Amino acid sequence: MKQFLVINGPNLNYLGKREPEIYGSTTLVDLENSLKTKGEALDLSLDFLQSNHEGVIIDAMYKANETCDGILLNPGAFTHYSYAIRDCIASLNIPVVEVHISNVHAREEFRHTSVIAPVSAGQIVGFGLFGYEMGINALKNIAEGKE
Ligand code: DQA
Repeated sequence: MKQFLVINGPNLNYLGKREPEIYGSTTLVDLENSLKTKGEALDLSLDFLQSNHEGVIIDAMYKANETCDGILLNPGAFTHYSYAIRDCIASLNIPVVEVHISNVHAREEFRHTSVIAPVSAGQIVGFGLFGYEMGINALKNIAEGKE
């Protein structure tokens, strides 16, 4: 059974309460529960982490590199400036799929740049929480060699 880690970065602990007009009203717990169920239906084992701290995310990704088949990452605002997370991803042997709930390209200029995208397997942007489901499917495809 393939195993993936789903990481949500800073401020995504507030999903459902945070700017609902942009990020919707579903909470992180609801998102994770629904992904877990969808993962089971796809014969996948999913683990979850949310952190507001860059170093915690980096440590988790190195650990996942030893134990998991891939990472689905919403780096939150770290997307736009964290060279530390970017360098970590460049060091990993497992694929990282980048996901964003909102269409970052239709928002403020600073959100148009992702320092993560060049080292990611791919980027999913602007499809709301459905993007996570797409991300899990993308990781499954890669892990099964159907790239
Ligand atoms: C986000 C987009 C980022 O620009 C923002 O800082 C977030 C959420 C998204 O999922 O749309 O925290 O990653």
